[in-house]
Amino acid sequence: MPVRRAAVPSFAKVNLSLKVLGRRTDGYHELRTVFQTVGLHDRIVFEFTPARRGLQIELEDPLAIPDNLVLRAARRFCESERVRVALRMRLEKRIPMGAGLGGGSGNAAAVLLALGPLTGRRAPLERLRAMAEELGSDVPFFLFGGTALGLGRGEELYPLPEAPAHGVLILAPPVHVSTAEAYRALGRPALTSPVDSRKLSSFQSFVWRADYLSGAENDFEAAVFGLHPELGRWKRKLERLGAHAARLSGSGAALFGVFPDRAKLQGALPQFSTEPLKVFSTTMLSRARYRARVLGSLREHVSGNAWPPASRYERDEL
Ligand code: C5P
Repeated sequence: MPVRRAAVPSFAKVNLSLKVLGRRTDGYHELRTVFQTVGLHDRIVFEFTPARRGLQIELEDPLAIPDNLVLRAARRFCESERVRVALRMRLEKRIPMGAGLGGGSGNAAAVLLALGPLTGRRAPLERLRAMAEELGSDVPFFLFGGTALGLGRGEELYPLPEAPAHGVLILAPPVHVSTAEAYRALGRPALTSPVDSRKLSSFQSFVWRADYLSGAENDFEAAVFGLHPELGRWKRKLERLGAHAARLSGSGAALFGVFPDRAKLQGALPQFSTEPLKVFSTTMLSRARYRARVLGSLREHVSGNAWPPASRYERDEL
């Protein structure tokens, strides 16, 4: 049987708003967030050969990322779905790491979405979701894409009206923020104390207004900008150059600016060329586009446009 190949995009996200309410008994923090996928992406190239026995999974990763989520997701899927494979993957990384852009989480979800079609397994969304949640708090979002409301530790997700496909400038400084340390630095109270009701009501008004460019906040900004004052300066520079919203993404250290006006984005881009930053010009990516791009990359192996992508192979073709 021939080798099955696919090159699947793995997109980045930004948090249009992010509120941290308090620390839960399981050690995670209770969130209210609005996730948004953007066009910036990595690529994962798959070469799948059915195997009579055993599980042989290899990853070519030029950056040698420790404990790579690509490998963990592939192992998790194959164990859960009882697949015997020889699987080679190559990770082509563009999304900066440890930047709050969900690069690793998106990689894990892309693996979960691709392996069903390639291996002839039809894992229902509920099972993929359970695997995603174990792999990390932001992984489930990438099973859906678009604009979504995230509750709990970010894994309880609901679709929101799509944000328009505005241009987005992403600034990635050479600063690596540890997510766990950023949460600790917030010093949030345990959730047995009353939740700050102003936070909840301001987040609710923000979501109901469905205008994600005004009034949103990221609770990490004060702490992270305190440690790295240049980030605050770059956020103000994005605003000065015409971004309708400029914010830290996740726990940072990447910043993003949303530019409804393309000309302003083009004008802003060179203004950052002398700063010690990686700059990416991209756009917001709707749920429909997100799904179409993933399905398109797997077109040889899927039947129809079902979501999650459904394999055209029978299980026992192997
Ligand atoms: O779930 P994930 O492995 O991505 O989280 C990394 C770390 O970030 C956790 O170990 C935890 O310390 C912190 N975290 C948190 N609350 C969240 C998400 C992450 O405290 N909602």
